Amino acid sequence: MVILRGLVVHTPKNPFREAKGLEAFSDGGIALEGGRIAALGSFAEVRARFPQAVVQDCREGVLLPGLVDTHVHYPQVRVIGAMGHSLLDWLEKRTLPFEARLADNKLARELAREFVQLLLRNGTTTALVFGSHFQGATANLFGAAEDVGLRLIAGQVCSDRLLRPELHTTPERSYAEQKMLIQRFHGRGRLRYAVTPRFALSASEGLLEVCQALLDEHPDLYFTTHINENPDEIRTVAELFPWSQHYLHTYDRFGLVGDRSVFAHNVHPTEAELLRLAEAGAAVAHCPSSNAFIGSGLFPMRRHLEARVRFALGSDVGGGTGFSLLKEALMAYLAQRLRPDGVLLTPAHLLYLATLAGAEALGLAEETGSLAPGKAADVIWVRPLPGSALEVRFRHSDSAEDLLGSLFTLHGEAQVAQVWLGGVRVLAPS
Ligand code: GUN
Ligand code: ZN
Repeated sequence: MVILRGLVVHTPKNPFREAKGLEAFSDGGIALEGGRIAALGSFAEVRARFPQAVVQDCREGVLLPGLVDTHVHYPQVRVIGAMGHSLLDWLEKRTLPFEARLADNKLARELAREFVQLLLRNGTTTALVFGSHFQGATANLFGAAEDVGLRLIAGQVCSDRLLRPELHTTPERSYAEQKMLIQRFHGRGRLRYAVTPRFALSASEGLLEVCQALLDEHPDLYFTTHINENPDEIRTVAELFPWSQHYLHTYDRFGLVGDRSVFAHNVHPTEAELLRLAEAGAAVAHCPSSNAFIGSGLFPMRRHLEARVRFALGSDVGGGTGFSLLKEALMAYLAQRLRPDGVLLTPAHLLYLATLAGAEALGLAEETGSLAPGKAADVIWVRPLPGSALEVRFRHSDSAEDLLGSLFTLHGEAQVAQVWLGGVRVLAPS
């Protein structure tokens, strides 16, 4: 047994719905045993319960739950920072040409290892990931995640039109390839499979039927895709599916909107779509840095809250500007400040959106997302870089909330020093 000692902060409750969402222990202790959180409280209390435990001193910095990224693309690390495009143009000119290179399994293996390390180095312990259009490359992603014990939900991305020929599959082939990946990886350790059509724009009705068949055959699979990101995209989808009432309908018609579905972006939804998402218990991955970088717009958070649609943060690398969910949280805050109807977010909201909200969106709230005893011991220790403004702020902060606000704001001066995943230390100081 180990006790981590330090300032501990988490959001055991949803601060959008309940007061006191934030819980903090200024000299706190987290007892880890058998991969789980055995106790959480003041260090003195936890120590008294487990006097023989080894104590690790983490008093410099802050201990948080492992972060949860609900939308990130494995093949896009090397596309980050491709400036000057809007969605469809960015896909065609910058992203898809690189994604086509993942047909090369050797490259794909290298990228998979790189990708998983980048998640951990940024404190992400659970992620819903867009895989590759290629079966082999997607298998490499699962393999790399398994090697480090990452909680990974991912799938082979499928498309059969309007991208580029190397990335197109057929409904029959996609069914066979996905079926093999599901049998091999879904439910193995911490790995889960998500059926992942890229977006309705690049999926024929036949391909969406295949997605439906897979979900019918395996009801515990996840479903993820993109929606309502960009006006040109939305217009094209409406033309391609003339029978559709709205974008969400193109998925709903095929039974793809449920409580295990996560839709990325949703920057431009109609009221009918929000109502339907709420009714289905589906979740939205909010990717504010990507929404700004690709010029998609400012997320209508208030409308999501009013309609009671669940949402959590996604980094959306490589449309997004990096892997840090601390940064993503700041971007969410800034985006809301810029909207006339923006929600005034607090540090508690930001921490919730980067942790428990993601776990809830992925149906994993029993397992991760906060430091409640009984959950898996997914913990990160974040420290300010020596000599940084963040270090000054940490030294002089007068409350956990104030300190958290400075952490999100100065995220670039924070270093994820250590990461425990299921109680195992998977990232240690280099
Ligand atoms: N829509 C379809 N593909 C993508 C992608 O790779 N990134 C983003 N942001 N939107 C998409
Ligand atoms: Zn995306």
